[in-house]
Amino acid sequence: MIILGIETSCDETAAAVLTGKTNKIEVLSNVIASSSLLQSKFGGIIPEQAAREQLKSIIPVIKEALDQAEVIPEKVDAIAVTYGPGLIGSLLVGVETAKTLSWIWNKPLIPVNHLLGHFYANWIGNSPKFPCIGLLVSGGHTDLVLFKNHSEYEYLGGTRDDAAGECFDKCARLMDLPYPGGPEISKNAQAGNPKAFKLPRPMINSKNFDFSFSGLKTAVSSLVEDKSLILNQKTDLCASIEQAIIDPLIKKTLLAAKKGRVKTVILGGGVSANKKLISEFKETIRNEKLNLDLFVPAAELCTDNAAMIAARAFFEKKTVDSEKLQANPSLGL
Ligand code: KG4
Ligand code: ZN
Repeated sequence: MIILGIETSCDETAAAVLTGKTNKIEVLSNVIASSSLLQSKFGGIIPEQAAREQLKSIIPVIKEALDQAEVIPEKVDAIAVTYGPGLIGSLLVGVETAKTLSWIWNKPLIPVNHLLGHFYANWIGNSPKFPCIGLLVSGGHTDLVLFKNHSEYEYLGGTRDDAAGECFDKCARLMDLPYPGGPEISKNAQAGNPKAFKLPRPMINSKNFDFSFSGLKTAVSSLVEDKSLILNQKTDLCASIEQAIIDPLIKKTLLAAKKGRVKTVILGGGVSANKKLISEFKETIRNEKLNLDLFVPAAELCTDNAAMIAARAFFEKKTVDSEKLQANPSLGL
C-alpha cells in the first residue's frame, strides 16, 4: 500500500510518500516547503500571503516527494489530504489539488483531520498500544484526548484561551524574539534559571483537564514594560516562561493517564519538539514510578508535515467522493 499525503493547513506546503502494512509504516519521502522565513519578517502568519506561496509550491513539492520516493503516480494506492482545521485559503490549496489528482489519476481520496494527523506521527516507526492518552500541543491547539482504538477517542479537555505554542509565540514577540517563538525561547532558556521569575500557572491544580495560558502572556507583558529586563535577564525570563508552560502540560497529562488507567502517553504538535518538555516528562514518570510508555515523534515530525497525514490514513481508510470533499477551517476533534 502506497499513500501520497498532502498537508497545507497553515504556512507549510508538504507532501510525503509512505508505504506499509497495517502496523509497519515506512517514510519513502517527506518534503516540506515553508514560508516561515517570510512570516518571521512580519512576526507571524499573514494568511493570504501563506496561501499565495502554497499555490506556487504545491505541484513542485508533490513532484519532489514522488521523485524522492521513486514512485510513479500509477503506483500510488491512495491520496490523503488535510481538510481541516486551519486557514481556509491554505487548506483549499491542498484539498483542491488532492481532489484534482484523485480525479485525473483515478485514485481514492482519504480526508484527514490535521489534529489526528499530529498524533499519528507516533505510528511512524513505532506502534503505541491502546488505550492511550494523547497530548496535542501546537500553535493553535492544546488538547488532551483518550484514544480507545484507531477510530474511538474521547476529548478530555483543552485550552480555554491561548494554545501552548501560541503562548510561546506571543511571549517571544513581547521579548522581540523572531517567529516562531517556541524554538527561540527554548534556545535562550538553556542558559537561564527557570525559577528566576515567578510566573502564573493558571488551572494547574484544577481537577479537570483544561488549560489556560493567557494569564502567563499578560504577566510577561507587564514584566517587559521594563525594557532593560529583556537586555539583562533574557535567558532567565525565557527559562521561566518555558517552565511555566511545561508544568501544567505534564501535570494534567499524567493526571489523565492515571485516571484513565492507561499505560501509554503519546505527544504531538510543534511544542512536543521541546527538549525540556520531553526530558521533564521522562523524569516525572521515573520519579513517580509510573508504569508508562511515552512516545514522542522525531522532531521533524512534531511540526506540520505530510508524513503524519499519510500515516493517519493507513489506519482510517475512509474514502470520500472527490467532488464532495470540502475544506473545513474549524474542524474539531
Ligand atoms: O504543529 P505546528 O507546526 O503547527 C500547528 O499546527 O500549529 O506547531 C507550531 C508551534 C509554534 O507555536 C512554535 O512556536 C511551536 O510549535 N514550537 C515549539 C518548538 N518548536 C516549535 N515550541 C516550543 N519548543 C520548540 N522546540
Ligand atoms: Zn499542526
